[in-house]
Amino acid sequence: MKLRFVHLVALLLAALLPAGAAPVEPAPTPSAPAASAPAASAPVAAAVTPAATPVTPAEPGSLTAGESFAPADLLAWARNFGTPLYVYDGDRIAANYRRVAAAFTALYPATRLHYAMKANTNPAIVQILRREGASAEVVSDGELQLAMRFGFPPREILFTSNSKSPLEIDRAITVGAILNVDSEDELEQIAQRAATIGAAARISFRLNPAVDPHTHAKIATGVIDSKFGLHFVDGSAMRAVKRALELAPRVRLVGLHSHIGSQITEPEPFQLAAQEMVDFVVRIRRELGVKLEFVDLGGGLGIPYHDGEETMSADAWAAAQSGPLLAAREELEGELPQLWIEPGRALVADAGVLLTRVNSVKTTPIKTFVNVDAGFNTLMRPILYEAYHRVRVVGKTGGGKVVEIAGNVCETGDLLAQTRDLPPIQAGDLLAILDVGAYGFAMASEYNSRPLPAEILVRAGRPVDLIRRRGTLDDLLRGTNVPLDLR
Ligand code: LLP
Repeated sequence: MKLRFVHLVALLLAALLPAGAAPVEPAPTPSAPAASAPAASAPVAAAVTPAATPVTPAEPGSLTAGESFAPADLLAWARNFGTPLYVYDGDRIAANYRRVAAAFTALYPATRLHYAMKANTNPAIVQILRREGASAEVVSDGELQLAMRFGFPPREILFTSNSKSPLEIDRAITVGAILNVDSEDELEQIAQRAATIGAAARISFRLNPAVDPHTHAKIATGVIDSKFGLHFVDGSAMRAVKRALELAPRVRLVGLHSHIGSQITEPEPFQLAAQEMVDFVVRIRRELGVKLEFVDLGGGLGIPYHDGEETMSADAWAAAQSGPLLAAREELEGELPQLWIEPGRALVADAGVLLTRVNSVKTTPIKTFVNVDAGFNTLMRPILYEAYHRVRVVGKTGGGKVVEIAGNVCETGDLLAQTRDLPPIQAGDLLAILDVGAYGFAMASEYNSRPLPAEILVRAGRPVDLIRRRGTLDDLLRGTNVPLDLR
């Protein structure tokens, strides 16, 4: 790899500076005028060239990013940046976006992809997707404000939440984002706030199609007993639409939304939910003359977390999501709404690897524990959803020893992986936990007073970028205050 002069300087500086004080380049300037470079806390784009050559770009459909990183690169990055370390393959994220977008536009050209920011809010990751053409789906005032800072036009941002505070409602109305309304109570509040502010609120309704998505119970959202959405069976969806029409022009109904869950691996639930939604779209068109700008059918496309697992392709997802709308063309007199989708995991999960160092190995009467320097504070999915993530011992292959990968949090449940047949492991070895680009860092915490991990971005033909510096002791204390009498 050719080293440019600036990279040599950066390399030198990185070697001279203490850890965490890497040289800072200006944040990339997004093209949209609304964008302002995120404030001091956000992207630290330090160009630090690793010893080894960077990755070859991963082909869509090839092995996960973790597999396409060369072991020598992973070892070098772990040495340079420390562990635990989140490593993202930026080219793979762009390729994922293009694959999903192409699958939809081939069938339904008027599709718009709203990245579900909650999956990974690192500004550098979001910028890759924004530059690919994504809009944003947000779930809090924090995400709304971040999305605007990142340069997403506010009018394209959809704000979904079952529980919006008055402040969140006000902000969304003021900036012109679309409020995805979850209840009749919330609808009334929005109308009142819009009147007070003197602006029109653009809204959609989140509907609950009562479909079982066959996924983990904690992430199934469109089932009848979940907290999300208005229902067809009790008439609340229809009542809400009628009420929104009465509240015009203070409230302007522009779309309908559903999101039935996450990590869904088969097309049928999507197809069923889409059909329920389209039946309702046709009904309100016929009975009330409502014409919608968009129908948003949510995210939820799963990825294969296991070796050899086959999950639904983006093409199959696109067919399931768009089929019912296309079939309703006549009933909608040729005026089809835009189709919006909100993938999170499918865009970023397989592009992320967590590197963690083995501290010690211990055999007990029953099991062998490999103690690593990450825990559920670093990666929460295993303890929260019994989630399975593949583990590789960097630089070793094969198997031979069944072990538990034990996190460093003081709780028995903190096992990052269980009963894994791995090559012999010893203290100092580096492990790679795969498919952690979505809901990995995003759900990390400082529990047990362990600072947050660092994140790096790898792209072919470019130096590796530190996109979030490792947390520090000061970060652990940030914002705290000890009253004078307690000092
Ligand atoms: N739209 C809405 C309204 C959502 O609530 C979500 C995710 C998405 C889109 C994106 O879903 P995706 O395409 O990523 O499946 N922490 C869990 C996943 C929680 C998903 C929450 N909602 C996990 O680690 O599996």
